[in-house]
Amino acid sequence: MAIFVVPDRTAAALLTADIVERFVNSAAPAALGVATGETMEEPLAEVARRCQRGALSLARTEVFLLDEYVGLEPDDPCSFANTVDRLLVGPTDLSPGAVHGPNPHSQDLSAECADYERRVLAAGIGLQLLGIGTNGHIAFNEPGSSFASSTRVVQLNEQTRNDNARSFPGATQPPTAAITQGIGTILLARQILLVACGRPKARALASALEGPLTQSTPASALRLHPDVTVVLDPPAAALLVNDRRQPCRTAREEGEDFYQ
Ligand code: F6R
Repeated sequence: MAIFVVPDRTAAALLTADIVERFVNSAAPAALGVATGETMEEPLAEVARRCQRGALSLARTEVFLLDEYVGLEPDDPCSFANTVDRLLVGPTDLSPGAVHGPNPHSQDLSAECADYERRVLAAGIGLQLLGIGTNGHIAFNEPGSSFASSTRVVQLNEQTRNDNARSFPGATQPPTAAITQGIGTILLARQILLVACGRPKARALASALEGPLTQSTPASALRLHPDVTVVLDPPAAALLVNDRRQPCRTAREEGEDFYQ
Protein backbone atom coordinates (compact mmCIF):
# COMPACT_ATOMS: atom_id res chain seq x y z
CA MET A 1 0.00 0.00 0.00
CA ALA A 2 1.36 3.41 -0.96
CA ILE A 3 0.04 6.38 1.02
CA PHE A 4 0.46 9.88 -0.40
CA VAL A 5 -0.36 12.88 1.75
CA VAL A 6 -0.57 15.84 -0.60
CA PRO A 7 -0.89 19.50 0.40
CA ASP A 8 -4.62 19.97 -0.23
CA ARG A 9 -7.75 18.82 -2.07
CA THR A 10 -6.58 20.30 -5.35
CA ALA A 11 -3.31 18.39 -5.18
CA ALA A 12 -5.29 15.23 -4.37
CA ALA A 13 -7.42 15.81 -7.47
CA LEU A 14 -4.32 16.35 -9.63
CA LEU A 15 -2.60 13.22 -8.35
CA THR A 16 -5.79 11.17 -8.80
CA ALA A 17 -6.14 12.46 -12.36
CA ASP A 18 -2.47 11.60 -12.99
CA ILE A 19 -3.11 8.02 -11.91
CA VAL A 20 -6.28 7.78 -14.02
CA GLU A 21 -4.45 9.26 -17.01
CA ARG A 22 -1.64 6.81 -16.65
CA PHE A 23 -4.10 3.92 -16.42
CA VAL A 24 -6.17 5.02 -19.41
CA ASN A 25 -3.03 5.42 -21.52
CA SER A 26 -1.59 2.07 -20.49
CA ALA A 27 -1.48 -0.68 -23.05
CA ALA A 28 -3.51 -3.32 -21.17
CA PRO A 29 -7.21 -2.81 -21.91
CA ALA A 30 -9.23 -2.92 -18.70
CA ALA A 31 -12.23 -1.13 -17.31
CA LEU A 32 -12.18 1.88 -15.01
CA GLY A 33 -14.25 1.55 -11.85
CA VAL A 34 -15.66 4.89 -10.73
CA ALA A 35 -16.91 5.99 -7.32
CA THR A 36 -19.04 9.11 -7.02
CA GLY A 37 -19.59 11.47 -4.08
CA GLU A 38 -18.08 14.80 -3.13
CA THR A 39 -14.50 13.51 -3.02
CA MET A 40 -14.60 12.40 -6.66
CA GLU A 41 -16.06 15.63 -8.06
CA GLU A 42 -12.74 17.48 -8.35
CA PRO A 43 -10.64 14.56 -9.60
CA LEU A 44 -13.21 13.67 -12.28
CA ALA A 45 -13.52 17.34 -13.26
CA GLU A 46 -9.73 17.39 -13.68
CA VAL A 47 -9.88 14.26 -15.86
CA ALA A 48 -12.55 16.01 -17.96
CA ARG A 49 -10.40 19.16 -18.29
CA ARG A 50 -7.50 17.06 -19.55
CA CYS A 51 -9.82 15.53 -22.16
CA GLN A 52 -11.01 18.96 -23.21
CA ARG A 53 -7.40 20.12 -23.62
CA GLY A 54 -6.79 17.10 -25.82
CA ALA A 55 -4.25 15.69 -23.35
CA LEU A 56 -6.34 12.60 -22.63
CA SER A 57 -8.99 10.55 -24.42
CA LEU A 58 -11.61 8.30 -22.84
CA ALA A 59 -12.86 7.12 -26.23
CA ARG A 60 -11.60 3.57 -25.61
CA THR A 61 -12.45 3.44 -21.90
CA GLU A 62 -15.27 1.40 -20.36
CA VAL A 63 -16.52 2.73 -17.02
CA PHE A 64 -18.28 0.72 -14.32
CA LEU A 65 -20.17 2.37 -11.46
CA LEU A 66 -19.41 1.19 -7.97
CA ASP A 67 -22.92 1.64 -6.64
CA GLU A 68 -26.28 3.28 -7.24
CA TYR A 69 -29.17 4.50 -5.13
CA VAL A 70 -32.45 2.56 -5.28
CA GLY A 71 -35.60 4.68 -5.29
CA LEU A 72 -34.65 7.76 -7.32
CA GLU A 73 -36.41 8.69 -10.57
CA PRO A 74 -34.36 7.84 -13.69
CA ASP A 75 -33.76 11.54 -14.41
CA ASP A 76 -32.78 12.49 -10.83
CA PRO A 77 -29.50 14.42 -11.03
CA CYS A 78 -28.40 12.82 -7.74
CA SER A 79 -28.32 9.30 -9.17
CA PHE A 80 -24.76 8.10 -9.63
CA ALA A 81 -25.40 7.27 -13.30
CA ASN A 82 -26.53 10.86 -13.94
CA THR A 83 -23.59 12.19 -11.90
CA VAL A 84 -21.13 10.29 -14.09
CA ASP A 85 -22.99 11.54 -17.18
CA ARG A 86 -22.54 15.10 -15.95
CA LEU A 87 -18.91 14.74 -14.89
CA LEU A 88 -17.50 12.47 -17.57
CA VAL A 89 -19.83 11.79 -20.48
CA GLY A 90 -20.96 15.37 -21.18
CA PRO A 91 -17.55 17.02 -21.11
CA THR A 92 -15.39 14.21 -22.59
CA ASP A 93 -15.28 11.75 -25.47
CA LEU A 94 -16.43 8.90 -23.20
CA SER A 95 -19.26 7.17 -25.02
CA PRO A 96 -22.58 7.01 -23.09
CA GLY A 97 -22.75 3.31 -24.03
CA ALA A 98 -19.42 2.74 -22.32
CA VAL A 99 -20.79 3.63 -18.88
CA HIS A 100 -22.17 0.59 -17.07
CA GLY A 101 -24.10 0.49 -13.84
CA PRO A 102 -26.67 -1.64 -12.08
CA ASN A 103 -30.27 -0.86 -13.03
CA PRO A 104 -31.99 0.27 -9.83
CA HIS A 105 -35.38 0.27 -11.61
CA SER A 106 -35.32 -3.44 -12.39
CA GLN A 107 -38.38 -5.44 -11.29
CA ASP A 108 -36.01 -8.11 -9.99
CA LEU A 109 -33.22 -6.42 -8.10
CA SER A 110 -31.52 -9.59 -6.92
CA ALA A 111 -31.28 -10.88 -10.52
CA GLU A 112 -30.01 -7.43 -11.53
CA CYS A 113 -27.31 -7.56 -8.85
CA ALA A 114 -26.18 -11.02 -9.95
CA ASP A 115 -26.09 -9.85 -13.56
CA TYR A 116 -24.11 -6.71 -12.71
CA GLU A 117 -21.63 -8.75 -10.68
CA ARG A 118 -21.11 -11.00 -13.74
CA ARG A 119 -20.63 -7.99 -16.03
CA VAL A 120 -18.10 -6.37 -13.70
CA LEU A 121 -16.09 -9.57 -13.35
CA ALA A 122 -16.25 -10.29 -17.09
CA ALA A 123 -14.94 -6.80 -17.90
CA GLY A 124 -12.23 -6.95 -15.25
CA ILE A 125 -11.66 -3.68 -13.40
CA GLY A 126 -8.13 -2.45 -14.01
CA LEU A 127 -8.28 0.60 -11.76
CA GLN A 128 -10.98 1.08 -9.12
CA LEU A 129 -11.46 4.58 -7.70
CA LEU A 130 -12.82 4.62 -4.15
CA GLY A 131 -13.89 7.14 -1.55
CA ILE A 132 -14.50 6.27 2.09
CA GLY A 133 -17.49 7.01 4.30
CA THR A 134 -17.09 8.58 7.74
CA ASN A 135 -18.16 5.15 9.10
CA GLY A 136 -15.45 3.37 7.10
CA HIS A 137 -17.68 2.15 4.27
CA ILE A 138 -16.35 1.59 0.77
CA ALA A 139 -18.90 1.74 -2.03
CA PHE A 140 -22.06 1.21 0.06
CA ASN A 141 -20.63 -1.68 2.06
CA GLU A 142 -21.65 -0.48 5.47
CA PRO A 143 -20.02 -1.70 8.71
CA GLY A 144 -20.79 -5.39 9.16
CA SER A 145 -20.42 -6.21 5.45
CA SER A 146 -18.55 -9.42 4.73
CA PHE A 147 -15.12 -9.07 3.13
CA ALA A 148 -16.35 -11.74 0.67
CA SER A 149 -19.56 -9.88 -0.25
CA SER A 150 -20.66 -9.45 -3.86
CA THR A 151 -23.04 -7.04 -5.60
CA ARG A 152 -26.30 -6.78 -3.70
CA VAL A 153 -29.03 -4.50 -2.39
CA VAL A 154 -28.14 -2.89 0.93
CA GLN A 155 -29.86 -0.61 3.43
CA LEU A 156 -27.94 2.61 4.04
CA ASN A 157 -27.29 3.43 7.67
CA GLU A 158 -28.23 6.71 9.32
CA GLN A 159 -24.70 8.12 9.36
CA THR A 160 -24.31 7.54 5.63
CA ARG A 161 -27.70 9.08 4.85
CA ASN A 162 -26.94 12.11 7.04
CA ASP A 163 -23.52 12.57 5.39
CA ASN A 164 -24.94 12.23 1.89
CA ALA A 165 -27.87 14.58 2.50
CA ARG A 166 -25.52 17.43 1.53
CA SER A 167 -25.60 16.18 -2.07
CA PHE A 168 -29.40 16.39 -2.22
CA PRO A 169 -31.31 19.64 -2.74
CA GLY A 170 -32.98 21.37 0.20
CA ALA A 171 -34.51 19.04 2.73
CA THR A 172 -34.58 16.05 0.35
CA GLN A 173 -33.29 12.96 2.10
CA PRO A 174 -31.16 10.31 0.36
CA PRO A 175 -32.84 6.98 -0.38
CA THR A 176 -32.70 4.28 2.26
CA ALA A 177 -31.39 1.58 -0.11
CA ALA A 178 -28.75 1.14 -2.77
CA ILE A 179 -27.13 -1.46 -4.99
CA THR A 180 -23.45 -1.82 -4.25
CA GLN A 181 -20.57 -3.87 -5.51
CA GLY A 182 -19.41 -6.06 -2.66
CA ILE A 183 -16.10 -5.86 -0.86
CA GLY A 184 -15.19 -9.16 -2.51
CA THR A 185 -16.01 -7.64 -5.91
CA ILE A 186 -13.87 -4.57 -5.22
CA LEU A 187 -10.92 -6.66 -4.08
CA LEU A 188 -10.86 -8.32 -7.52
CA ALA A 189 -9.85 -5.04 -9.19
CA ARG A 190 -6.25 -5.11 -10.39
CA GLN A 191 -5.39 -1.75 -8.79
CA ILE A 192 -7.30 0.33 -6.24
CA LEU A 193 -7.01 4.05 -5.60
CA LEU A 194 -8.63 5.35 -2.40
CA VAL A 195 -9.00 9.11 -2.10
CA ALA A 196 -10.03 10.94 1.08
CA CYS A 197 -10.03 14.60 2.00
CA GLY A 198 -11.12 16.49 5.10
CA ARG A 199 -11.06 15.97 8.86
CA PRO A 200 -14.39 14.07 8.98
CA LYS A 201 -12.62 11.17 7.23
CA ALA A 202 -9.65 11.00 9.63
CA ARG A 203 -11.05 8.53 12.14
CA ALA A 204 -12.36 6.12 9.50
CA LEU A 205 -9.02 6.26 7.70
CA ALA A 206 -6.96 5.60 10.79
CA SER A 207 -9.20 2.61 11.61
CA ALA A 208 -9.02 1.34 8.02
CA LEU A 209 -5.26 1.68 7.62
CA GLU A 210 -3.99 1.07 11.15
CA GLY A 211 -6.78 -0.55 13.15
CA PRO A 212 -7.82 -4.20 13.19
CA LEU A 213 -8.94 -5.95 10.01
CA THR A 214 -12.63 -6.08 10.82
CA GLN A 215 -16.02 -6.04 9.19
CA SER A 216 -16.81 -3.10 11.47
CA THR A 217 -14.46 -1.06 9.27
CA PRO A 218 -15.16 -2.23 5.72
CA ALA A 219 -12.24 -0.23 4.26
CA SER A 220 -9.79 -2.23 6.40
CA ALA A 221 -10.31 -5.03 3.83
CA LEU A 222 -8.22 -2.98 1.40
CA ARG A 223 -5.12 -4.05 3.33
CA LEU A 224 -5.70 -7.55 1.91
CA HIS A 225 -5.20 -6.23 -1.65
CA PRO A 226 -1.70 -6.20 -3.14
CA ASP A 227 -1.96 -2.94 -5.10
CA VAL A 228 -3.65 -0.09 -3.23
CA THR A 229 -2.72 3.58 -3.47
CA VAL A 230 -4.16 6.01 -0.93
CA VAL A 231 -4.26 9.76 -1.63
CA LEU A 232 -5.02 12.00 1.36
CA ASP A 233 -4.98 15.63 2.28
CA PRO A 234 -3.43 16.50 5.68
CA PRO A 235 -6.74 16.71 7.62
CA ALA A 236 -7.75 13.24 6.43
CA ALA A 237 -4.31 11.90 7.39
CA ALA A 238 -4.35 13.64 10.80
CA LEU A 239 -4.90 10.51 12.92
CA LEU A 240 -2.43 8.20 11.17
CA VAL A 241 0.31 7.18 13.54
CA ASN A 242 2.61 4.95 11.52
CA ASP A 243 4.71 6.95 9.11
CA ARG A 244 4.38 4.92 5.94
CA ARG A 245 3.73 7.99 3.83
CA GLN A 246 5.42 8.52 0.50
CA PRO A 247 6.85 11.83 -0.68
CA CYS A 248 4.00 13.82 -2.20
CA ARG A 249 5.11 14.35 -5.74
CA THR A 250 3.04 13.79 -8.85
CA ALA A 251 3.43 10.94 -11.32
CA ARG A 252 4.54 13.50 -13.91
CA GLU A 253 7.41 14.73 -11.72
CA GLU A 254 8.46 11.22 -10.80
CA GLY A 255 8.58 9.96 -14.36
CA GLU A 256 7.37 6.85 -16.04
CA ASP A 257 8.06 4.12 -13.52
CA PHE A 258 6.57 5.71 -10.44
CA TYR A 259 3.30 3.82 -10.21
CA GLN A 260 4.36 0.44 -11.54
C1 F6R B 1 -20.07 6.55 -3.86
C2 F6R B 1 -19.39 5.66 -2.91
C3 F6R B 1 -19.20 6.05 -1.48
C4 F6R B 1 -18.43 7.34 -1.34
C5 F6R B 1 -18.24 7.69 0.14
C6 F6R B 1 -17.58 9.03 0.31
O1 F6R B 1 -20.06 5.98 -5.14
O2 F6R B 1 -19.01 4.60 -3.29
O3 F6R B 1 -18.53 5.02 -0.80
O4 F6R B 1 -17.18 7.21 -1.96
O5 F6R B 1 -19.48 7.71 0.77
O6 F6R B 1 -18.44 10.01 -0.14
P1 F6R B 1 -17.99 11.53 -0.23
O7 F6R B 1 -16.89 11.58 -1.22
O8 F6R B 1 -19.23 12.26 -0.69
O9 F6R B 1 -17.53 11.91 1.15
